[in-house]
Amino acid sequence: MQTEIEDYYRQGGETRRLDAGAGRWEFLRTWDLLQRVLPAGPLSILDVGGATGGYAGPLARHGHRVHVVDPMPEHAAAAAALPGVTAAVGDARALAEPDAAYDAVLLFGPLYHLVERGDRLAAWREAARAVRPGGLVVAATVSRFASLLDGYVSGHLAHEAFARMLDHTLATGEHRNLGTDRRWFTTAYFHRPDEPQAEAADAGLDFVRTAAVEGPLWMLPVLDEVLADPARTAQALDLVRRVEGEPHLWGASSHLLTVARRPA
Ligand SMILES: C[S@@+](CC[C@H](N)C(=O)[O-])C[C@H]1O[C@@H](n2cnc3c(N)ncnc32)[C@H](O)[C@@H]1O
Repeated sequence: MQTEIEDYYRQGGETRRLDAGAGRWEFLRTWDLLQRVLPAGPLSILDVGGATGGYAGPLARHGHRVHVVDPMPEHAAAAAALPGVTAAVGDARALAEPDAAYDAVLLFGPLYHLVERGDRLAAWREAARAVRPGGLVVAATVSRFASLLDGYVSGHLAHEAFARMLDHTLATGEHRNLGTDRRWFTTAYFHRPDEPQAEAADAGLDFVRTAAVEGPLWMLPVLDEVLADPARTAQALDLVRRVEGEPHLWGASSHLLTVARRPA
């Protein structure tokens, strides 16, 4: 992993990223999708790029056996401390896992930190190798347009360095924040909505479906108020669930999930 990505994660933000605001909304929607996408358990799940266990912990509490792989030793150590979760330091492009060892593999992180398509395909292929025939690979990607939307709403676009970075991202998908401002994330690749499906197919997987994670609601100025109110949260979840498979809205979501299956 590149030094600037390590430096970014060494700040420790992953421990609380999913606890509030857009991160909380991302978690609630991802969890909602996972509950519907994963087959009945208990399952054996490999969580590649699982960080400090934001998903591994809840999955283990639901009875699944979860193993996290992450290049950051601090992340792997935090995940391994969770009940029912094991973890190891590793890279999505060259997993130490045996063939066909898991019912499902999650790629929630590696695909948006691997800027070269060849590296992303290596991560997809390793996931396809580690999952059993008929098992699922579920992958998160960041939308090509997330930086434009977030940059405008948060005001980052007022900075010339951000505006220059955005031009490059829109043209190429490469997000290159060379340490200018840590709030602007780190080296990443932002997919056009149709790319993950093609990558999964090129890695030999059968495409199942794409779904928006947050939908357009991650930009709501009143998101914190909605999340503080269980009835409004349930309404928002229901609304986005109804349009999660609508391709015309995918680019307005911060993240997309792509579900693919290893041929039986
Ligand atoms: C934004 S965090 C996401 C964490 C968690 N999976 C989630 O969805 O909230 C991205 C994670 O991907 C990990 N990562 C980056 N490059 C990776 C690679 N080549 N292989 C595996 N994990 C990687 C990072 O260390 C980090 O923990």
